[in-house]
Amino acid sequence: MIPVPEEIEAYAERHTRGMSPLHGVVWKETFEKTKSPRMMVGPLEGALLRLLVHITGARTVLEIGMFTGYSALAWAEALPEDGKLITCDVNPETTEMAKRYFASSPLGNKIEVRLGPALQTVRTLKGPFDICFIDADKPGYGAYYDACIEITRRGGLIVLDNMMQGGKVLNPTDDRVRAIDALNKRIKEDPRVENVLLPVRDGIMLAYKL
Ligand SMILES: C[S@@+](CC[C@H](N)C(=O)[O-])C[C@H]1O[C@@H](n2cnc3c(N)ncnc32)[C@H](O)[C@@H]1O
Repeated sequence: MIPVPEEIEAYAERHTRGMSPLHGVVWKETFEKTKSPRMMVGPLEGALLRLLVHITGARTVLEIGMFTGYSALAWAEALPEDGKLITCDVNPETTEMAKRYFASSPLGNKIEVRLGPALQTVRTLKGPFDICFIDADKPGYGAYYDACIEITRRGGLIVLDNMMQGGKVLNPTDDRVRAIDALNKRIKEDPRVENVLLPVRDGIMLAYKL
């Protein structure tokens, strides 16, 4: 994460609409049962994702990188009754956890889970999606962006998480960070989108498809 002072992030959280009780359950169990609970977007970013749905009037969202379902539930909460989230992951254990949470809530009716490598899944989807959210393996980001831009509607959004790599993008020393830095530069120059890189949590890139 970008080193935002802890008390500043806590203040932002306290002054942001909170997450649902089910999010509380997912949060707690993910910390108890998985090795990398910090992969969850958390309450601040979760609230931002929800708001993006409201601002854009999105009805269809594609998520690449579901983990235990925290961000998926944020998207689903904001989507209208007939809205749809397709969410992908490769990990069968965390996918089982996510499915259990989805089954316990009416929000589950809006969520379709695809288990398998995301690029293969995405290539089977025609879209158009109102929002595509990229939050999976970092080396795949460039290919995910290229695939998502094809299936995002004009006036839709591509949202990419972890685009600051804990601040390492300032001085990339390994291939993973170099790839994210290169993608930040590529998106800024991409004539198909208008973008903003938000220094929120680990850096959230918003690319609006023109
Ligand atoms: C950062 S976590 C996603 C966190 C989630 N958005 C949340 O807020 O809880 C990244 C996820 O991407 C998944 N992943 C890694 N490689 C993948 C691939 N090739 N295709 C699909 N998912 C992948 C991992 O299994 C992991 O669950």
